[in-house]
Amino acid sequence: MDIQRFEDRKKHHIQSSLDSKNQAIGLSGFDQIELVHDALPDLNFEEVSLEINSLGKTRNTPFFVAGMTAGHPDAFSMNRTLAERAAARGWWMGVGSQRRQLERNSDLVDQWKELRRSVPELVLISNLGISQLILSDLDQVKGIVDSIHANAIVIHLNALQEVIQEEGTPQFRGGWTALEKLVKKMSIPVLVKETGCGFSKRTLRRLQEMGVSAVDVSGLGGTHWGRIEGDRTTSHSLKSASETFKNWGISTYDSLLHAMEVLTGSQTEYWASGGIRTGLDAAKALVLGAKGVGFAQPALEKALLGAEELELWMERIEYELKVALFCTGCKNIVELRTQFPVKGMEEGIEWDLSPIKISKTDLSY
Ligand SMILES: Cc1cc2nc3c(=O)[nH]c(=O)nc-3n(C[C@H](O)[C@H](O)[C@H](O)COP(=O)(O)O)c2cc1C
Repeated sequence: MDIQRFEDRKKHHIQSSLDSKNQAIGLSGFDQIELVHDALPDLNFEEVSLEINSLGKTRNTPFFVAGMTAGHPDAFSMNRTLAERAAARGWWMGVGSQRRQLERNSDLVDQWKELRRSVPELVLISNLGISQLILSDLDQVKGIVDSIHANAIVIHLNALQEVIQEEGTPQFRGGWTALEKLVKKMSIPVLVKETGCGFSKRTLRRLQEMGVSAVDVSGLGGTHWGRIEGDRTTSHSLKSASETFKNWGISTYDSLLHAMEVLTGSQTEYWASGGIRTGLDAAKALVLGAKGVGFAQPALEKALLGAEELELWMERIEYELKVALFCTGCKNIVELRTQFPVKGMEEGIEWDLSPIKISKTDLSY
């Protein structure tokens, strides 16, 4: 791999994701769902709790920072800011693709070790792309997990990005077999995520049958990799493909509806990311059954402004979610699900709220 080119690409990704034209604004689908106001909630605001169970652990909040690039030297301070704030507020954090570590880059390993030492309590999730997973052996994958003492690993799927990226690796044949092997052999939870294009019912069904612990649907509505790669490329045909596919993907809302239908009651939980921009969006994802709610670009934007800005933004998001719970008359997320205060569906729906049984629950490393 040409390291300089790789690092330049990662830097460009950060800049480009901050440009609003590369955000699929208005396409998340959350406008289609409206929560119903309760004029007299029978509770005090201080009683509202954001507690949720996920991967066998009780958490104070459902929030997480979704995995973002770690592939260049400047990313280290950004990741440190994110990790420290996430740890302080009980958010979980996915790291960006650890692809470069597969090439035994010892600088990166040392950086991660240092970062991990400063936030031992943080739930950290390793990250690798499907095309790298296919080419790696299990020991390599275990190596990247061990380097950050990860509590879980997520494999990211990014078909659209790989085909629009000049240096892309759209070689996905063997992906299902590689995933199945990983799920069988890893002693920590294996998760699967998209990167902004969402999931169909068919793909979710197959992932559930395979026994993945969770799927982060990461649907259309936020950062759009077809647009970002089109922005970078000098190839005429890739630029036009990017234009043609600029709204490609399954919205986060539709992906959650698919997950709700396919995964409810199963051992595979689902998380929401992709265009989640407010605590109200988060409430809508949670009412649809998500067990985690993640942000990539907004967290990045604030982290680049500094720890204080990031902290204020995290506080704002948590506060907004509490407002949504209070104003729907729900004191916690379980009530939000059982009461199902969704316009047009006020009678409530049947939820299987028994704790999901995960076979590999050891998130403590
Ligand atoms: C700068 C940047 C880098 C990213 N790098 C990765 C990555 O390395 N691995 C991954 O799984 N997802 C990566 N993502 C995708 C996010 O995890 C997320 O799925 C997607 O951005 C949608 O969320 P958002 O709309 O909140 O940004 C990246 C996102 C951004 C903005």
